[in-house]
Amino acid sequence: MTDRTILLKNISELVTVTQSGERCKCGQGMQELGIISDGAVVTRGDAIAWVGRTSELPVELRDGADETIDCSGKTVLPGLVDCHTHFVFGGSREGEFAERCQGTSYAEIAAAGGGIKSSMWATRGASFEDLVDVGRTHLDQMLLLGTTTVEGKSGYGLDLETEVKMLSVMRELRDTHPTTVISTFLGAHAVPDGVSRSEYLSTVLEEMIPYVAEQRLAKFCDVFCDEGAFTVDESRFVLSHARQFGLTPKIHTDQFASIGGCGLAVEVGAISADHLDAIQPRDIDLLSAHDITGVLLPGCIVFLGLSKYAPARRMIDQELPIALATDFNPGSCNIRSLPIIMAIACTMMNLHPYEAIAACTLNAAYALGMSDQVGSIEAQKISESAVMA
Ligand code: NIG
Ligand code: FE
Repeated sequence: MTDRTILLKNISELVTVTQSGERCKCGQGMQELGIISDGAVVTRGDAIAWVGRTSELPVELRDGADETIDCSGKTVLPGLVDCHTHFVFGGSREGEFAERCQGTSYAEIAAAGGGIKSSMWATRGASFEDLVDVGRTHLDQMLLLGTTTVEGKSGYGLDLETEVKMLSVMRELRDTHPTTVISTFLGAHAVPDGVSRSEYLSTVLEEMIPYVAEQRLAKFCDVFCDEGAFTVDESRFVLSHARQFGLTPKIHTDQFASIGGCGLAVEVGAISADHLDAIQPRDIDLLSAHDITGVLLPGCIVFLGLSKYAPARRMIDQELPIALATDFNPGSCNIRSLPIIMAIACTMMNLHPYEAIAACTLNAAYALGMSDQVGSIEAQKISESAVMA
């Protein structure tokens, strides 16, 4: 790490998101973005060293910078955080999109052997190098669109070897790509053909989770807990076991139906509950009372041609911290752009643009347990979060 200093000065609009050290925003606070006019930021090495008005910049910082960038007429935002994606996968499923446009549902396609299982075959068949190339292409595009931290899930292997291959691809990209990559183990995404549900869950519990934890291949463990996927009882086995191995639980739930996934999220101490399009009002209170971030994925609603968005306004009114993410994956959402997701959230879920920004920065970082490092432009945070918009 070098101690090279960079000064951004004369920033017309510096959107810090917060300057107070708060770890997430909820309620009215989501509209308060700490905007400084004629702002300046100094970075030293990998860290933000100073934030304030250009006119108040200490003289030694003003004159001593190794590089100075004049940001007149520009806005500077924190790097965006995409806290829910499935960006490593083999193959593509554009044929399913065409089928859906002609009236076949996501569930019908899955039941006919397409969906997640189609990506499973393509991912099993792809080499490590192929997957690194595909993953790098997606991260490059995301970075161009302002995303500097990306969470990625396994879940298209559904056997030990391929789940480990996917997580190793993410580790390789974490080490070689400028984006910060955070990995999540999602072995309980679907049941592969040829084994019973209980046999497959035993493999997830007894082989995959211990190996992933021992090799430190993931920070989180996720499960697809919904109608047509894993039940609450099955998901409980997976997430409570993962917790014992040091993996923090996350949960895909209430995407299609409210089957009790939010209660389970509380029970196992999940850091986030994701999708929530079908959430019941009492579960909003439950998540809010337990400080579990609601991660909303409106790109899926658009891409699947559905109409029922998560009740974001109600969540904000009930003081639930909400984040927005792309859920980029080959089946239910091919959008890699957080700016487009923010626009959908504004037009279709009535978020104020400031709330959408808070949801893709500080709150998304909070859903990854990283809001002390990224998600706002504050002294001591990682300097890659200071990117031009
Ligand atoms: O988040 N809901 C479950 N999993 C993914 C979709 C996976 C796929 O269709 O490939 C999601 O939408
Ligand atoms: Fe997902």
